[in-house]
Amino acid sequence: MNKLDTALVRASLEDAGIGLTDHPSQADLVIINTCSVRDHAEQRVLSHLGHLQHIKRSRPRMVVAVIGCMAQRLGDQLLQHPAVDVVCGPAHLPDVVRLCLEALINKTRSSVTDNWQETDRLDELETSRPAAESPGHAYVRVMRGCNRACSYCIVPLVRGPERSRAPAAILDQVRILADRGVRHITLLGQTVNAYRYRLGEKTVYLADLLEMVSSISGIHWVSFLTSYPTERQFEPILQQMAKNPKVCPYLHMPAQSGSDRILAAMNRRYTACQYIDMIEKARAMVPGIAIAGDFIVGFPGETDQDFQQTLALINKVRYKNCFVFKYSPRPGTASSRMEDSVPDQVKSSRNSQLLAAQQQISSQIASSFIGKTVTVLVEGPSKKADRFGKEDGQLQLVGRTNTDWPVVFTGAKGMVGQFVQVMIQDASPFTLFGTCVS
Ligand code: 5AD
Repeated sequence: MNKLDTALVRASLEDAGIGLTDHPSQADLVIINTCSVRDHAEQRVLSHLGHLQHIKRSRPRMVVAVIGCMAQRLGDQLLQHPAVDVVCGPAHLPDVVRLCLEALINKTRSSVTDNWQETDRLDELETSRPAAESPGHAYVRVMRGCNRACSYCIVPLVRGPERSRAPAAILDQVRILADRGVRHITLLGQTVNAYRYRLGEKTVYLADLLEMVSSISGIHWVSFLTSYPTERQFEPILQQMAKNPKVCPYLHMPAQSGSDRILAAMNRRYTACQYIDMIEKARAMVPGIAIAGDFIVGFPGETDQDFQQTLALINKVRYKNCFVFKYSPRPGTASSRMEDSVPDQVKSSRNSQLLAAQQQISSQIASSFIGKTVTVLVEGPSKKADRFGKEDGQLQLVGRTNTDWPVVFTGAKGMVGQFVQVMIQDASPFTLFGTCVS
């Protein structure tokens, strides 16, 4: 979600004729897009701000803006930080550039975090100037906010209740992106499988939207993030995935815990068994489906037995990959009123145990690709590209399969944004390596 918001702001900056630099020390304007989901993310922002405050001493005209969920959460309080000139919540994305220009020209300082339910202008920003974060791939928001009340989660408090966007706006946006060469669309929502939009007598659900988006000419792959584990609409979505070759066989469906006791305390409305049943249904309906998940370790009251159940769930589901987070109490959430009872070393140890278990599974899945040829949508030079740069114009590229496996191979610049076939020769737990064969 933040990658998309960043791409939108970047596009607005370009429209305003503002050039980009990679070095904050050379910038007249620095915009930090923030996340509030864990305290760690906010601490990193504060440390960046400390650094910028230092730079500002020699560049007093420099303007610093903080946008996103942390801006929404802290509002005027952030404006008290000596480095900060502009504070702008996620609903005010269309105002970011104007406020920054005002700050640059008039030295005004401002904070806008009200009115987060207003979405018309946001919709217009997205539809009129769709932003892609790589030449072949773009995120498209289909809904804002979240109606769930997971006890640990700050998102509903900073992004507001669930609002689905009109299918026509989404499709217009995808058409523009497709015309610009985008081939893969990822539909975004905090609980994307809850997408529903009333059109007269009919309700459009995510499964319908997947079909509509995939039928737009130029679009070859459609995926969606993130799914809440619920039976509602689950089958139609899987049916669409099973019958429609453009819908990527990839499901990101966080379990958060394998203990029913902890799931209940988290206010997740399923049991570990129900979750596993859904995974089994997905595997039966969509053979080869890749499953990804999120877990929180050290939720208040999590015992070793609860944790063992989470470990067992990971081993049972055999995720393609998992994101594991140490529980972090967030202000205003229900669980922040419970005692943060699990000591940090225990959280860390559980975190590494889950990651180790997952790494082993990912490694086995990755190795099973060796010798196979996969279709890859090329994103751009790999992180190590300059080290591997060759004189004949070949460079190390990275792309992804339709099940979200990163693939590194040697190719030409012109391949960026295109589909290529890569024969896989080697694998690390989270990346495949191969040779381009077409
Ligand atoms: N502490 C730790 N992890 C959290 N997440 C959400 N809220 C918290 C929190 N308070 C994790 C969940 C979610 C992911 C985006 O972040 O696993 O799926």
